[in-house]
Amino acid sequence: MTDSNPQMRNKIIPIKLPSQVIFKDIIGQGSAMQRIFRIVEKVAECDTTIMLNGETGTGKGLIARAIHEASDRNGNSFIQINCGATPEGLLESEFFGYRRGAFTGATSDKVGKFEMAKGGTIFLDEIGDMSADLQVKVLRVLEEGEFERVGGNQTIKSDARIVAATHRDLEEEVQKGNFREDLFYRLYVIPIMLPTLKERKSDIPFLVSHFLEQFGRKVDSQIVAVSDAAMKILMNYSWPGNVRELKNIIERLVVLHESETILPEDLPEKLRIENDRVAQHKLEARGDGISFSTAVNEFEKALIISALEKTNWIKNRAAQLLKIKRTTLVEKIKRYNLEKDSEEDR
Ligand SMILES: Nc1ncnc2c1ncn2[C@@H]1O[C@H](COP(=O)(O)OP(=O)(O)OP(=O)(O)O)[C@@H](O)[C@H]1O
Ligand SMILES: [Mg+2]
Repeated sequence: MTDSNPQMRNKIIPIKLPSQVIFKDIIGQGSAMQRIFRIVEKVAECDTTIMLNGETGTGKGLIARAIHEASDRNGNSFIQINCGATPEGLLESEFFGYRRGAFTGATSDKVGKFEMAKGGTIFLDEIGDMSADLQVKVLRVLEEGEFERVGGNQTIKSDARIVAATHRDLEEEVQKGNFREDLFYRLYVIPIMLPTLKERKSDIPFLVSHFLEQFGRKVDSQIVAVSDAAMKILMNYSWPGNVRELKNIIERLVVLHESETILPEDLPEKLRIENDRVAQHKLEARGDGISFSTAVNEFEKALIISALEKTNWIKNRAAQLLKIKRTTLVEKIKRYNLEKDSEEDR
């Protein structure tokens, strides 16, 4: 590693994660995730149904497991069932089990997931993909805590705690007539909306650090840092696959990368293309007729935010980085009305 290469300077060394940033292996420094951690702790104490909503890769599965782990049900099973991936015909017997002879091939009794989750938690993933028929049966478990095995007539009691998840807008599905309204209200007792990664960009450096450490431990990785320029590209990307996409990129880098620092050219091309487009767009906006002083102010504001983020909003250090007096920085922060929290979702 040499400091004569400008891209190597100001590199972001994997950060030591403060304890409040990591909750049961889930990273979340910003207020959105911190709020969710507090909810998880609170709901762990009761048996209320939890509904997790969020785009793919935002951590619904991770939160569902954390709810189970934080509760006193953690000595019993956490049973997951993916309603979207399980063939329609199989789903009912997967849920409730069946009696011998219930259908061709049912040569012995089978225990369903609701029975397996006795005393524990059942995670109904992609619940928006369930058929109308099954929706009725799940509603009955939620309301009366009971069901029958397929082909059976004995009523079985269920005490499993239900955590459900979907990436769909279930309210819209209700309006379209695809999802039962009564089941919707029964599920949405405590809804938790997971933010997209784009909405919580300040978490990106912490996630990068966490995954570098996590994968690095397994393969004895060379990587010790991410260059400033590479981090900027990671921050500018829109992350349609959310945390999963970031995690996969870091895993690939850890396995394949052979030097100590990640540079822009080491990142996937689509990230670099999007970064160039963002930069281009900023220039074009100015070409559209923005006034000189507005453009200068915008640039100044962006520079200040970047220095503050880099120094975790420690004004002394940010002022040193910008080579201005602390008082000047404070005055500018006031003028632009900058606040740590409001900038988090930028
Ligand atoms: N906040 C986080 N901290 C650490 N790892 C995370 C975080 N959020 C997600 N991950 C990781 O990203 C991956 C995707 O998360 P998860 O499977 O929970 O997402 P999901 O919302 O259930 O996605 P899908 O809708 O596609 O099932 C997992 O490997 C998970 O460990
Ligand atoms: Mg999932």
